[in-house]
Amino acid sequence: MTSGQGPVLVLEDVAKRFGPIEVLTGINLTLSRGEKRALIGPNGAGKSTLFNLVSGRFAPSSGVIRLGEKRIDGMPAHQLNRMGLSRSFQITQVFGGMSLYENIYMAVMSRHGKRWSLLRSGRVWRDIAEQTRELIDYAQLTSLADRQASTLAYSEQRALEICMTVATGPDLILLDEPTSGMSRVEAANMVAFIGRMTEGRTLLMVEHDMDVVFGLADTISVLSQGQILATGTPAAIRDDPRVQDAYLGGSAH
Ligand SMILES: Nc1ncnc2c1ncn2[C@@H]1O[C@H](COP(=O)(O)OP(=O)(O)OP(=O)(O)O)[C@@H](O)[C@H]1O
Ligand SMILES: [Mg+2]
Repeated sequence: MTSGQGPVLVLEDVAKRFGPIEVLTGINLTLSRGEKRALIGPNGAGKSTLFNLVSGRFAPSSGVIRLGEKRIDGMPAHQLNRMGLSRSFQITQVFGGMSLYENIYMAVMSRHGKRWSLLRSGRVWRDIAEQTRELIDYAQLTSLADRQASTLAYSEQRALEICMTVATGPDLILLDEPTSGMSRVEAANMVAFIGRMTEGRTLLMVEHDMDVVFGLADTISVLSQGQILATGTPAAIRDDPRVQDAYLGGSAH
């Protein structure tokens, strides 16, 4: 768990090379507690690479990444999870044979499991069950609680993933294109759902869809050719001529 008032996530002069190719250079980024940051940029800008550095899939070639006060660059994903970082669960990590309730119960349990000795007390198990119920009610998934996860519709499975991510009680939530593969209506519902479920939490997302970005993010960072071109409010980014140039130069032809 990160502590105190300081930033939740800091990247200092981070670079990533794949062989001779420098994909990211001189990345500096700070996320305050409660901030909702979107990473946008043209195809090939380095968004997924940056995301993968933070989520522990790759180690940076140089530079420092901190979660709270702890250095996390190069740490594997499972260790980051225990330190309070949660990448939105992929559908493959939802247990298809278990009910929605059971999946969320497991995620709530993993939070309590950090204090393993407490699990010996019966009260903790009642707390876990109660918190699972509360979360499902808050997410308005009560009518689906007993459904086997594999029988849920695609957008319902994505909602379950978000719920599981929140249930683990992370300090930082990472979302990778949370509305990909959804219709306009489903995407709009998902944005509202994520907004509600992540209220007061710190979020870093990669997203192509501008409606989603504008619906969820309070700050946007624009990546272009491996560097952060601009960071600002959605309105400032929309009106920034450098950003408009990057998009036209990067993906329109
Ligand atoms: N494992 C890898 N090995 C070599 N090059 C890679 C690797 N992963 C990414 N790249 C290159 O790094 C650059 C940035 O890729 P990245 O996937 O981070 O971009 P992106 O901004 O996520 O693009 P998109 O919008 O298409 O998802 C691209 O030129 C890509 O070819
Ligand atoms: Mg990508």
